[in-house]
Amino acid sequence: MAPFDLVIFGGTGDLAMRKLLPALLHRFVDGQIGPGTRIYGVARDSRSDEAWRERVREAVADIAAADPRVAEAVDAFLALLHYRQLDLASEESWPAFAAEIGNSPDRVRVFYLAVGPSLFANVADRLDAVGLAGAGTRVVVEKPIGKDSASAQVINEALGRVFDESQVFRIDHYLGKETVQNLTALRFGNALFEPLWKAEHIDHVQITVAETVGVEGRAAYYDRSGALRDMVQNHLLQLLCLVAMEPPASLAADAIRDEKLKVLRALRPIGNGNAAQLTVRGQYRAGAVEGRAVPGYLDELGEPSNTETFVSIKAEVQNWRWAGVPFYLRTGKRLAERMSEIVVTFRRVPHSIFGDPADGSASPLAPNKLVIRLQPDEGVKLWLMNKVPGPGGMRMREVAMDLSFAETFGGRQPDAYERLLMDVVRGNPMLFMRRDEVDAAWHWIDPIRVAWEASHDAPKPYTAGGWGPSAAVALIERDGRTWHEDA
Ligand code: BG6
Repeated sequence: MAPFDLVIFGGTGDLAMRKLLPALLHRFVDGQIGPGTRIYGVARDSRSDEAWRERVREAVADIAAADPRVAEAVDAFLALLHYRQLDLASEESWPAFAAEIGNSPDRVRVFYLAVGPSLFANVADRLDAVGLAGAGTRVVVEKPIGKDSASAQVINEALGRVFDESQVFRIDHYLGKETVQNLTALRFGNALFEPLWKAEHIDHVQITVAETVGVEGRAAYYDRSGALRDMVQNHLLQLLCLVAMEPPASLAADAIRDEKLKVLRALRPIGNGNAAQLTVRGQYRAGAVEGRAVPGYLDELGEPSNTETFVSIKAEVQNWRWAGVPFYLRTGKRLAERMSEIVVTFRRVPHSIFGDPADGSASPLAPNKLVIRLQPDEGVKLWLMNKVPGPGGMRMREVAMDLSFAETFGGRQPDAYERLLMDVVRGNPMLFMRRDEVDAAWHWIDPIRVAWEASHDAPKPYTAGGWGPSAAVALIERDGRTWHEDA
């Protein structure tokens, strides 16, 4: 790939150190980042190139220790790195920075805004003022893109005043995960699923993104956000879109994004009238996660708060394909295990020839399930009914056809940011959110939050290390269904 410039605003922050620079290092090792490329870290404090390189060396020490190919490449990678001190609020240092970067339309310049959303407009205006916003420039913005429809609109308009939509890359890192990309492969690379992929044959869908971590060092951000904005507005809705969308005509970015947008717009509205029946919010109390005692959310925060650390929602896509099929969503912090999966439960056979569970002559036939495990233990399982071998007649049991990514493909699973960063450099927006998708997602989320605020109910407490408040179990059991547990 031709050499390019990548500038990380927030170059000393957590995202840069934990995700962006390790991802770039891996791509460097794989030969996708060639000589002549410049990677800049930009932040407010003064430091030398050398000092920043040393910080990055520490940040990648673990991955270097795990892989000799990476270890060998670290010095050459660090040589591509530069640090520049810039105060976003002052105009002074920008012209020299602009002169250094240059504005040739033939060289790709990526500006990664790993800073708070309140700074997005400011950075965009500065880039424009110093002539760095033209052809060749791409900007990457991280979520949260606002905290509701109105604030997202302000941000998107500020970006839109300076950049063409094709220059703006809105990251939802879930879209870069290999297993999430595989959803598209599974659905549209196989003839098997599409004829069954509809209300006639699918009973319901579950989407779970469970985390064991708490709010870590991010309590101040998290408390203003909560799980609905932090996880559902983006990651869970994107997963829902990939499961529910119509087949796009091609892999062209807009072909896919048009279909996702239709799903978001078809979501049944949830608000004051029905939020109490269709949503559950929770907040963790002290408990034990993976055998380790952990404090409750309010202890970590140090003040009272009604912010939710868990959400469960019964969603519905109101169109011909999905009418009447519930999509049960749930996500939370400090749950029993780190586990993200999508479970598609098919309808039961219309008639059992194996005996009647009602008269005790057989146990009920379990419905088939397609379980797509996003992380960890990435893979796909198809649960089928089978005869148990041996005497005893037609004894039936549910067993899984099990495809493990690690066993099948071996090797390392690239991190989502590796693919996403290189897609920005290539100018491929397929795995990024278009402005109207972000708007549509907020449009669905806002009334839920408003209804919660109007109800004045506190989030339901749950003990850290469990599966969330019992109301989330009731939400699905009321419908005669249960959350999937891997047997
Ligand atoms: C981020 C959220 O977008 O996703 C975090 O802000 C969350 O709160 C994280 O922990 C989860 O990502 P992953 O890739 O670890 O599942």
